[in-house]
Amino acid sequence: MRKKSDSYSVHLMSSRLAWILSLLVIFVLILAACAGGAAPAAPAAETPAAEAPAAAEEAAEPTEAPAEEEEAEPTEAPAEEAEVTETPAAEEEADATETPAAEEEAEATETPEAEEEAAAEEVALSPEAEAGAYLVTISRGCGCHFNADLGGRAGGAFAFEPGAGNSIYPANITPDEATGIGSWSPDEIVAAIRTGALPDGKQLHPIMPYRAFSHLSDEDALNIAAYLLAQEPIENAVPARQVASEPEPFTPDPAPPATAPTDPVARGEYLVQLARCGDCHTPRNEDGSQNAEMFLAGNRISEDEVAYNITPDDATGLGTIPEDEIATFLRTGTYSDGSEVAGTMREQIDNYFHELTEEDSLAIAAFLKSIPAVENDPE
Ligand code: HEC
Repeated sequence: MRKKSDSYSVHLMSSRLAWILSLLVIFVLILAACAGGAAPAAPAAETPAAEAPAAAEEAAEPTEAPAEEEEAEPTEAPAEEAEVTETPAAEEEADATETPAAEEEAEATETPEAEEEAAAEEVALSPEAEAGAYLVTISRGCGCHFNADLGGRAGGAFAFEPGAGNSIYPANITPDEATGIGSWSPDEIVAAIRTGALPDGKQLHPIMPYRAFSHLSDEDALNIAAYLLAQEPIENAVPARQVASEPEPFTPDPAPPATAPTDPVARGEYLVQLARCGDCHTPRNEDGSQNAEMFLAGNRISEDEVAYNITPDDATGLGTIPEDEIATFLRTGTYSDGSEVAGTMREQIDNYFHELTEEDSLAIAAFLKSIPAVENDPE
């Protein structure tokens, strides 16, 4: 009896032990799965992409990428509309994460070596790649593709999850032959940027803003391709995307021009589309798309921030501000009274728009003065 109970309790103990052990194993497995699954998101959210050498070269790169990853879930916008995928809520989140703290972190991680490398890269750029680098900066840096751990646009730092069944990692757009765009021709890169069509016949998800880039001239798009191909190749196999339904093919209409417009107003429009000022400055429709009738008429982007009305309305917009003052502001963030802009627009200027040539900043100002004045106070 005793023996029996002994052996029973031993048996019980060992089965308990086995139980506990298997629980432990399961726990560890879950942990590992979480680390594997969630890790791409977590570091991305914490590490602003700006550590990358290329980022150093273009000042701190956007911290938007991680934000967009967070935004992707609530978005659930109709897949076909690139603009729709950025809902006001999404913007808010994006902007909310662009904190000065993130900025500081970004600066702190820019090592002297990174700067040297960036400088070395700059020296090596062809005139075409140089022109492409400028356009990439004005387009706000291709930030989603940054992989801070790998130090470049190696992709895969996080996944967008726009709606159930969708998981889409930003691609490796460094010229690595096997895992990036190293084996693509410049024309294939141009097609991906302007139409979302991939060399293998697949169509990119409109999370990649090819619609916004579809107006890029042949020359400019090829220059961007030259710049992307001039980056350091980084080997990084990004997980294949999962989409609930294949995205529709997209054909730019009108067809893009051979060269960018040179008339100041048209050039300004071209740059405003490239920089996507409307992402912040245009109010949204209920479905999250931009309200075309209120183009650039001001928009609340977070609880504590509004992107002002920049139409030429006298009372609520830029009507009374001279073009040269607007242009200076875009390059410096300094208002005519000497005060400095803060917050999200400061980051846009420090990271990207400070690189605008004087001519281009004047072209943008001329375009802003040419659009319909809309009376709207987003406060
Ligand atoms: C990521 C969001 C974002 C983007 C993109 C953006 N802006 Fe802004 N912008 C803001 C915010 C926010 C403010 C308000 C700054 C403040 O609170 O002082 C602002 C302010 C401005 C102002 C000052 C207006 C005034 O009345 O003082 C101008 C001009 C302006 N932006 C132009 C532009 C142009 C042109 C572009 C595109 C080339 C652009 N912005 C892109 C967020 C953005």
